[in-house]
Amino acid sequence: MGPLETAKKAAACKAVDEFVKTNSVVGIGSGSTVIYAVHRLAERVKDEKLKIVCVPTSFQARQLIVNSHLVLGDLETHPRIDCVIDGADEVDEELNLIKGGGGCLLQEKIIASCAEDMIVIADYTKNSERLGQQYKKGIPIEVIPMAYVPIQRKIEDNYGGLAKIRMAIAKAGPVVTDNGNFILDWHFPDDLEKSWKVINSEIKMIPGVVETGLFINMAKKAYFGMADGTVTEQSLDG
Ligand code: 5RP
Repeated sequence: MGPLETAKKAAACKAVDEFVKTNSVVGIGSGSTVIYAVHRLAERVKDEKLKIVCVPTSFQARQLIVNSHLVLGDLETHPRIDCVIDGADEVDEELNLIKGGGGCLLQEKIIASCAEDMIVIADYTKNSERLGQQYKKGIPIEVIPMAYVPIQRKIEDNYGGLAKIRMAIAKAGPVVTDNGNFILDWHFPDDLEKSWKVINSEIKMIPGVVETGLFINMAKKAYFGMADGTVTEQSLDG
């Protein structure tokens, strides 16, 4: 296993071991790091007879749950989630996140908003002082397809930068999310004057914007796996 995969696995296993308790409802995030968390959950269910219900944040997460023979739930049956374990594209020193590199930001944010604790698992490349320092693919913004051009214009006129529609790789045309929407990746300028909290609220007010990949004041703790398999932890209380 290479250094990045070692790091992802280490962070995922530590978070699952420290945060998931029996008789709990667990939100399952999306992305490549979460795969290790689901494998560790399945191990613990088998070895410790842990009783958990897993609520997915995407089609990918649902498949992971089903294929690992974990108990699948949803927000209708389990509107209150104990903890969600999810990846991130970047984490700043205040635990603000960019998410949505995998295009699952909307359901990820809904599940995080229903969770008592949001726990982030990531490799060492995601740990930044400020958003945009390391992650250069922009802030994902999920939009209603018919409105994507006016939304692009409004974001670029209001804040600068470029809001590019995300194109699919194994399909002609744009990426279509699990919810049937498009994604704009906003490559923002370095000299933004407003706080992420304000920018997030303002962008969400643009008609046709469904959700942003800015997760502000949502995460409780982040586990960063290192290349040697050790894990560093970051939480707001030290
Ligand atoms: C998907 C996400 C992922 O959590 C994020 O992209 C990190 O993925 P990975 O663990 O593969 O680096 O937000 O929408």
